[in-house]
Amino acid sequence: MSETFDVLVIGGGPGGYVCAIRSAQLGYKTACIENRNTLGGTCLNIGCIPSKSLLNLSEEFIKAKKNFSNIGIETGKITLNLSKIMKTKEKSVTILTKGIEFLFKKNKITHIKGKASFKSNNEIIVQDKIAKKIYKAKNVVIATGSIPTSLPGIKIDEKSIVSSTGALSFDEVPKKLVIIGGGYIGLEMSSVWRRLGSNVTVIEFLDHIVPGMDKDISTEFLKILKKQEIDFKLSTKVIGVSKLGNKVIVNYTSKNNNTKEKIEADKVLVAVGRKPCTEGLDLKKISVQVDNQGRIQVDKNFQTSTKNIYAIGDVIKGPMLAHKAEGEGIAVAEIIAGQSGSVNYKSIPAVIYTSPEVASVGKTEQELIEEKIKYKVGKFPFLANSRAKVINQTDGMVKILVDEKTDKILGTHIIGPHAGDMIAEIVLAMEFGASAEDIARTSHAHPTYSEAIKEAALAVDKRPIHS
Ligand code: NAI
Repeated sequence: MSETFDVLVIGGGPGGYVCAIRSAQLGYKTACIENRNTLGGTCLNIGCIPSKSLLNLSEEFIKAKKNFSNIGIETGKITLNLSKIMKTKEKSVTILTKGIEFLFKKNKITHIKGKASFKSNNEIIVQDKIAKKIYKAKNVVIATGSIPTSLPGIKIDEKSIVSSTGALSFDEVPKKLVIIGGGYIGLEMSSVWRRLGSNVTVIEFLDHIVPGMDKDISTEFLKILKKQEIDFKLSTKVIGVSKLGNKVIVNYTSKNNNTKEKIEADKVLVAVGRKPCTEGLDLKKISVQVDNQGRIQVDKNFQTSTKNIYAIGDVIKGPMLAHKAEGEGIAVAEIIAGQSGSVNYKSIPAVIYTSPEVASVGKTEQELIEEKIKYKVGKFPFLANSRAKVINQTDGMVKILVDEKTDKILGTHIIGPHAGDMIAEIVLAMEFGASAEDIARTSHAHPTYSEAIKEAALAVDKRPIHS
């Protein structure tokens, strides 16, 4: 007899495992099916966590190499031990994936290892290395995430032509690294490998980096990355990649002069986006609707066209961000329990963990113009922030956008030290419908980077103190 669960979650990433924990907290008999050996999905195994580890380790390396002697710390010759760096990264991943296993045990969640596919709307087949098993479920949550996309004719081999997965595990520093795509992955990985010694060129189709980012921030960001000696080819379209001996040739055309050119590299990272992962689920068995981008269609309760089947995270519409998936995981578990779980999509922050970090929430200035919303703007540069000056990290700014009449915060964009943590203040402010004046009148400790947020809020009303 097959075992029956109240909630069966397919996928053990940030969407799926959080959903499983919340379901168990609500008293449901819960299981989570995961194909990988470890829990945590792309984020913990081959995404957010290993990339943040490498970003941190490479930052330490470059600081030791370039800054220490300038500030009075004398060391011997600084050399790189890449295999030790990779081991340190793997240790972080292991600690965190094991942590989720512990949470599953603590919450009495059944962890089913294997690949899931639908037999019917309440029967799931799980194939592991040895056998096939069938599980029954009253409710199923699909949280199968996303996988990297490539460009037509470009085959990722994870050796010389890699996705982010391969770029997190090079066994030597590529002399020349070409990165296709100036988005989240392209820019984080360009930072890692530039710091570790690669000569990096980023090829981006658009005339700016990071699609959808506020233009002021994206322009400043590009300037800063160029200062870090990352080379950019903007308005440039990659049309093919071929292998020549142990080199890779990237062919591209420039949109400005339409000429065909090529560049040689030791490794090429393809970072042109990700697509929803529904492969092998056998969705046709349950008549769940999928849109033209392969995303599972859901209503506002994350319910698919089949009543007891829900979907969350990268496999549905919206930004492909771990914390968006987590929010949806909690919401859907509560909805299944008859509660009113929901996600406020207007205040989901996005962070790029470069140096400095870039963080944003809400509308960009371009969106406000396009939507004909009247706004005021307040900007404050880190150059005038005392803490940033002390640690000599004065690049960047805080930009706050508010409604012209009500002063309510509509969006905020930060490029600067610890931007990823600082944006939380604005997210909370937006959740409470706060105005710039509310922030301006809130005490911010001195000296902290967060004072730049207070000053930007004051700047909305043209009364910053320090600029
Ligand atoms: P992306 O959508 O951020 O950037 C892809 C870039 O590739 C775009 O700028 C696009 O214009 C460019 N491109 C497309 N075709 C091209 C061509 N033929 N030639 C040159 N450029 C071309 O996608 P990315 O960086 O792969 O990241 C995927 C997803 O993963 C993102 O949606 C992001 O949400 C998520 N992610 C989030 C991170 C974070 O939160 N820090 C870190 C890494 C990924």
